[in-house]
Amino acid sequence: MAHEVRGVVATGKGKPVSLETILVPDPGPGEALVKVQTCGVCHTDLHYREGGISDDYPFLLGHEAAGVVEAVGPGVADVAPGDFVILNWRAVCGSCRSCLRGRPQYCFNTHNATQKMTLADGTPLSPALGIGAFAEKTLVAAGQCTKVDPAASPAAAGLLGCGVMAGLGAAVNTGGVGRGDSVAVIGCGGVGNAAIAGARLVGATTIIAVDVDDRKLDWARGFGATHTVNAKESDPVERIRELTGGFGADVVIDAVGRPETYKQAFYARDLAGTVVLVGVPTPEMTLDLPLLDVFGRGGALKSSWYGDCLPSRDFPMLISLYLQGRFDLDAFVTETIGLGDVEEAFTKMHHGEVLRSVVVL
Ligand SMILES: NC(=O)c1ccc[n+]([C@@H]2O[C@H](COP(=O)([O-])OP(=O)(O)OC[C@H]3O[C@@H](n4cnc5c(N)ncnc54)[C@H](O)[C@@H]3O)[C@@H](O)[C@H]2O)c1
Ligand SMILES: [Zn+2]
Ligand SMILES: [Zn+2]
Repeated sequence: MAHEVRGVVATGKGKPVSLETILVPDPGPGEALVKVQTCGVCHTDLHYREGGISDDYPFLLGHEAAGVVEAVGPGVADVAPGDFVILNWRAVCGSCRSCLRGRPQYCFNTHNATQKMTLADGTPLSPALGIGAFAEKTLVAAGQCTKVDPAASPAAAGLLGCGVMAGLGAAVNTGGVGRGDSVAVIGCGGVGNAAIAGARLVGATTIIAVDVDDRKLDWARGFGATHTVNAKESDPVERIRELTGGFGADVVIDAVGRPETYKQAFYARDLAGTVVLVGVPTPEMTLDLPLLDVFGRGGALKSSWYGDCLPSRDFPMLISLYLQGRFDLDAFVTETIGLGDVEEAFTKMHHGEVLRSVVVL
């Protein structure tokens, strides 16, 4: 029997999202039905609404969620009804060429629910990142549920499901930031500030936050930025070089994802340094760089999907650090809102008023 619940749906390119009745099937083999408790508003949801990810409308948005497993389908052993879980978009398959080589964090065949959630008239929905959690209930692959300590606040914990994990992992996993490193982060929304928090957690000594909005830079200081640069007031490449003895940073993270910020990241790193692209570009964007500079500056140019995380390894570990007071996940939650307020939250995100608005159900 399908469950009739409310969900936030994007029906067409650039159209405001609407609250719709949706039908969520009972879990089949390998699936789990989750009662969603909280779901953060990530910039990627807005990218979906804008048609920046694909044209598979209607989308059921929302993908930074925590909740409680309500039911599981046949063959599910790792989670059970009542478990407090963070939803992830990396349920690894265990059998693709990457998993078999011991690199499950790059799995090329991650699992999502097999059955479709639909609108009331039967139109199939495309759940954002295979999750779709701006809804009272959602259906996922059981592997998308990562059990964590239920002592964590759901609003904070859910953010590990996307933006915070992506940013922190971009610094720590993809960028390999370590003790004594210098790091610059361009774009200090939820993702960029998580990169800053991650850099502090692992002992970076110089952490430079770059944004065009002073509010974001104030938040960045709270997360551990040692210096801030407003890119509207000064050239970030020059400032980052000045702040790193004239050389550039060991690791520069582009958490905006535009050609101009990528170029800044490219030239703001030290020779043999690392650039990590974690912001998501749109299909029309192209990059023009002198190939000789790519060669001559050495180092590594990397992209980071989901912070190269492995949810089963990273979520419980970060929740543990959070509960010990060593990683301030609560500070990412700027406001809690209702399911009907997502469109307004996009506007606030656009105006830079929030790090994360979190829908509480
Ligand atoms: N790679 C991944 O796995 C992954 C996961 C989640 C989100 N993302 C992407 O990361 C990006 C950031 O997400 P978010 O939720 O933090 O968004 P956000 O809108 O909250 O933050 C973006 C920040 O960039 C700043 N900014 C914009 N233009 C700038 C410029 N030219 N120079 C400096 N700063 C600038 C904005 O002021 C804002 O603070 C988005 O593209 C999102 O889609 C990627
Ligand atoms: Zn795999
Ligand atoms: Zn996201």
